[in-house]
Amino acid sequence: MNTLLQMCYLPYRAMRRIATANICHFLAVELDKLEVTPLSEGLTFEEVTPSRLPSIIQENPELLDDNLIDLIQKSIAHCYVVLENKQVVAFSWLATGNVPAEFNHDENPNTQLPFKLPSHTAYIFNAYVSPPYRGKRLYGAMMSGISSRMSGSRILRLVMTTEASNHRALRSVRRMGFRTIGRSMLFGVGKFCVAYYPRHLSAWGIYLGRYEGDRPKLIAA
Ligand SMILES: CC(C)(COP(=O)(O)OP(=O)(O)OC[C@H]1O[C@@H](n2cnc3c(N)ncnc32)[C@H](O)[C@@H]1OP(=O)(O)O)[C@@H](O)C(=O)NCCC(=O)NCCS
Repeated sequence: MNTLLQMCYLPYRAMRRIATANICHFLAVELDKLEVTPLSEGLTFEEVTPSRLPSIIQENPELLDDNLIDLIQKSIAHCYVVLENKQVVAFSWLATGNVPAEFNHDENPNTQLPFKLPSHTAYIFNAYVSPPYRGKRLYGAMMSGISSRMSGSRILRLVMTTEASNHRALRSVRRMGFRTIGRSMLFGVGKFCVAYYPRHLSAWGIYLGRYEGDRPKLIAA
């Protein structure tokens, strides 16, 4: 990241340490515009289907907790992995329809933001590449793998959200062809907060709920 950009984000990063501050990019790409990235030799890509769960868990016991296993078993969300010698080196999740708040946040519970997608759009979330494998376009290869699994399905577009100071992720997904279609924002200190919702996302068939930190709090009687 260049120095000027780093300086622009300094106040924002500082606020994130002491309060709630979230600028969230909504990014989208049409599947036929997604840059194809090949997977390096020795790596394989696959979906963690309910039938593959036992063997993947056996080789990667830390990968999935009970909640995540439930999401796969109930087909609430799909999990894709990149493996090297049976070890998961990268993963990403995909959801459709009503995206619950827990699927979209930056670790701070106040930043959880639910939304609804049209039927031809899928949401990519919780993408992760193991540190020794970073910088090798594995994220792109994973998106290419997911895209090829979508072919012939009703899905024509992928969307994702990325926190604005995650420059590595933004560089990576823009290289793949994703473009920012809107930004939501939440700033809060104590009980006070201000939120912005890019309502024009409805032109993309995306309808946002409210940030968890922007919900009226129940006051105990
Ligand atoms: C964001 C992330 C998925 C990118 O995966 P990746 O396979 O490394 O992506 P790329 O190979 O396209 O590299 C992206 C950028 O990471 C940076 N990078 C390069 N080598 C790196 C390394 N060894 N370690 C960390 N970052 C590195 C570079 O800025 C690179 O862009 P550049 O090559 O144009 O300079 C990965 O860094 C990650 O898992 N981060 C933590 C979780 C996260 O932020 N997820 C994304 C949520 S939207």
